[in-house]
Amino acid sequence: MLARHPAREKAGRMPKLLAIESSCDETAVAILAGDPSAPPRILASEISSQVALHQAYGGVVPELASRNHSMHLRALIERALDQAGRSLHDLDAFAATTGPGLASSLLVGSTAAKALALATGKPFIAVNHLEGHLFSPFIDQGTIPPHLALIVSGGHTLLLAVSGANHYQLLGRTLDDAAGEAFDKVAKMLGLPYPGGPAIERTALTGRPEAFHFPRSMLQDRGHDFSFSGLKTAVLYTLKDLDPEHGAAHESQLGDLCAAFQQAVVDVLVTKTLRAAAATDHQVIAVSGGVSMNQALRAQLDHAASAAGRTVHFAKPSLCTDNAAMIASAALQRHLAGQHTSLDAEIDPNLALTEPTSSLRHS
Ligand code: KG4
Ligand code: ZN
Repeated sequence: MLARHPAREKAGRMPKLLAIESSCDETAVAILAGDPSAPPRILASEISSQVALHQAYGGVVPELASRNHSMHLRALIERALDQAGRSLHDLDAFAATTGPGLASSLLVGSTAAKALALATGKPFIAVNHLEGHLFSPFIDQGTIPPHLALIVSGGHTLLLAVSGANHYQLLGRTLDDAAGEAFDKVAKMLGLPYPGGPAIERTALTGRPEAFHFPRSMLQDRGHDFSFSGLKTAVLYTLKDLDPEHGAAHESQLGDLCAAFQQAVVDVLVTKTLRAAAATDHQVIAVSGGVSMNQALRAQLDHAASAAGRTVHFAKPSLCTDNAAMIASAALQRHLAGQHTSLDAEIDPNLALTEPTSSLRHS
């Protein structure tokens, strides 16, 4: 008699979809199974990072990124199908990130997902990359409770009041650089590798946050917006003071500079997030995006939230930086609600979270 696998049998009956993420420098494919009665199951999540490729340039080169997505996507799709033990025809829908992001990179993933949808006669679902991040702390739970969301990535710093899937109110955003962008730019100034966040966090472990005092921008402002470009300029001026000739940090000062910079970012994020949670009366706070990998941010936000009687959910480390499981999770919500996207829908490099995803049709 064949051995029975109840979990696999249940996943076998659930709707399943494949999602592609290619908005920036990660090419990723995931297959997710789920229905409204249970949390979704990640059947496969494959990723090919281009970080090493762009490191030589100190940041993402769009032309290289899109070429690399094209090169790796087919193999990633095959690996994901293999890992999930499914064929293309077992899937019920195909999804891709259609914005925000780099135009030529978005086109690679969305064109591939549309082609798969067309070839199999299944629907296509356009996903907002930020919605993917937004849902990532709750993937294992299946439902999205009302909460205050902080999205901190390389391109965005947003505070939102979320009353459920598809119902968001923008409270605040950065007026200039995103928090992750500040990490990346300051790392470059300090001669640390791209991406800057992990490099600064590692180096900060050897330094003292109080060794330098950098500004905490917009803390006096009672609104919920952020600004990080003044902080970046303050680091630049400090480097010029320390070394007027080259503006470069001495090896022995790197730890202190990184620790002080990181603490300034964390102070602003923690203070403004808790203030917004109090102003909107949210008990639950959720944090997502690449910067939410940062252990200092996690520890200090956790501490401040529990002191204020609130709870914080973070995305799992594997779901913080760009991945396709979070895109599949956002797509699954739309699929279960019968919200599919026309194959004529365009990508939108500047798509905002509060805008409707283009050309939705209900089926
Ligand atoms: O969410 P993400 O992978 O891509 C975007 O959608 O932008 O975020 C990437 C950003 C980069 O700016 C990177 O420096 C930052 O997340 N990041 C970190 C850490 N890990 C990644 N920032 C601070 N600390 C980290 N450990
Ligand atoms: Zn992202």
